[in-house]
Amino acid sequence: MNAKKIAGEKAADYVKDGMTVGLGTGSTVYWTILKLGERVKQGLELRGVPTSERTRQLAEQLGIPLVPLAEAEPLDLTIDGADEISDELDLIKGGGGALFREKMVALASKRLLIVADESKRVQRLGAFPLPVEVVPFAWEVTARRIERLGCHPRLRLADKGTFLTDNGNFILDCDCGLIAEPAVLNRKLKELTGVVDTGLFIGMADTVIIGASEGAKTVE
Ligand code: 5RP
Repeated sequence: MNAKKIAGEKAADYVKDGMTVGLGTGSTVYWTILKLGERVKQGLELRGVPTSERTRQLAEQLGIPLVPLAEAEPLDLTIDGADEISDELDLIKGGGGALFREKMVALASKRLLIVADESKRVQRLGAFPLPVEVVPFAWEVTARRIERLGCHPRLRLADKGTFLTDNGNFILDCDCGLIAEPAVLNRKLKELTGVVDTGLFIGMADTVIIGASEGAKTVE
C-alpha cells in the first residue's frame, strides 16, 4: 500500500470533534484531508485553515468548513507534509511552493504533526534544495545576497514562465549543501531584505508519522 496514504490517513486519527486544524499542502496530507472530508460527512465538527489555494479548493470540494487564519488562532493542530526531516525533527518544506502560508499556520498552532514516507528522513538537511520565497522586485539582487551566504539559488519555473506562489512571489530553490547549522542559516536568510521566508522549519514539528507498507511509525 502507498506509504504516503498510510501516513496521511493515520494523521486523521489525531483530529477530534470541535478542533480547528491547519490543513497542509502536498500529496501526503492530501490523504489526511480526504479522510477528514469523510469524517465531516459522518458528523465530525471541524474548522479547517488551508495553507494553500490548492488545499482550499480540495477542502471546499469535500465540504470541510474553512475559517481564515486571523479568526482561528490558536489552532489546535496543523497536519502537513515535508521534503526533508532530520533526526532533530527539523524540516525542509516548500517543495510545493506553499512554505510561507504553511509556516504562518504552523506557528499559530499548538501542535504540528508531519506526515511523510521514509524517503524524507535524513541525518542532515540540505540534499533537497531549500525553497526560499522572495519578492519579485529585483529578485536577482536577493539571489546574489543568498549566493554570498554560500548557497546556489535557482529561480523556480512553471509550465508558463516563472512559478508564482499564492502570495504572488517567486521561489528560489537554493542548493546550500548539507546544512551544518539550520537555525543560523535560517536567521541569515531571513535578515535579507527581499526574502519573505524560508522552507526551514526549525524546532516546530512535535510529531512525525512515517508511513511504510508494514504500517505507520510515530516519532516524537
Ligand atoms: C509544500 C510542502 C509539502 O508539504 C512538501 O513538499 C511535501 O509534499 P509531499 O507530501 O507531496 O511529498 O512543503 O509546500
